[in-house]
Amino acid sequence: MTLQVNDLSGKNLSGKICCITGGTSGIGKETALALARMGATIILPARNLELAATVKKEIMDKTGNANIDIMPCDLVLFDSIRSFAKMFLAKYDRLHILVNNAGIMEPTRQISRDGIERTFAVNHLAPFLLTNLLLETIKQSAPARIVNVSSDGYKSGTINFDDIEGKQQYSGFRVYAQSKLANILFTQKLSSMLIGTGVTVNALHPGMTATNLLNLLPPFVRPLAKMFMLTPAQGAETTVYLASSPEAAMTTGKYFIKKKIAPLSAKAQNADSADRLWSVSERYIAQNTEI
Ligand SMILES: NC(=O)c1ccc[n+]([C@@H]2O[C@H](COP(=O)([O-])OP(=O)(O)OC[C@H]3O[C@@H](n4cnc5c(N)ncnc54)[C@H](OP(=O)(O)O)[C@@H]3O)[C@@H](O)[C@H]2O)c1
Repeated sequence: MTLQVNDLSGKNLSGKICCITGGTSGIGKETALALARMGATIILPARNLELAATVKKEIMDKTGNANIDIMPCDLVLFDSIRSFAKMFLAKYDRLHILVNNAGIMEPTRQISRDGIERTFAVNHLAPFLLTNLLLETIKQSAPARIVNVSSDGYKSGTINFDDIEGKQQYSGFRVYAQSKLANILFTQKLSSMLIGTGVTVNALHPGMTATNLLNLLPPFVRPLAKMFMLTPAQGAETTVYLASSPEAAMTTGKYFIKKKIAPLSAKAQNADSADRLWSVSERYIAQNTEI
């Protein structure tokens, strides 16, 4: 796939504007730290502003980079995503790197104030809406990159178009796996739409990482599980690679594990599913207002 030369340097991101969702903990926080160390201006949309302020200070102290900006955004609510995008676009006229990292897994079925199942809303609809709201600016900023944090758990998922929100039958893992498959289908469809724009979009599996997601396990299992897991900094490595490395600059529409392109199952390459999911997602958004 031929793209414009992408000049983001892995060593110096000064002057580059970078937005990372879920930057208040785990993999997202380590991604923010790494990209801040390279000199990027970091914008962290966050639902918990008190926590975000602490993280901002920690990043500034550790990296010496003062260009860390936090803005309110609850990714489970369309209006909040729209307000964030408006606030972002009022302040910044460029966006060189968008990292859609925030993710949750609700063990029991929970509904957002928009009336949508929360895991589907945060993990798929939020990056779909946020990316679309920022896409013109991302294109104008080319060469630019979009990085979607998925999971190898996608392999256990199917897009259940008849019951995408698990209304009839809910399993936390099934809905999570579906949302992570959705991240990959979204990546592929978007990459085909962005050919020739100088904007790349890739998805990745960070590896099993000891983050707050560990809290889903019973307490007595956590210390043992942690021994076999990556640290959050290690879990952020593939995201940071895709967001910043010159080697990844020309690659788009791919799925990465351990900084290498990984093969995808047939269901994750199904263009019909990707098209259908895109239309379904547009309908969800349109029920609120136009994107
Ligand atoms: N850890 C793993 O083993 C693993 C494996 C495969 C894939 N992943 C993926 O990696 C990504 C990062 O996960 P993590 O392990 O680093 O988890 P984490 O430590 O729980 O971090 C999740 C982040 O998402 C944010 N977030 C959640 N709901 C939000 C909302 N409604 N609005 C705004 N922000 C919200 C959280 O903000 P708060 O601080 O406010 O809670 C937090 O910053 C996820 O997409 C996950 O699916 C993780």
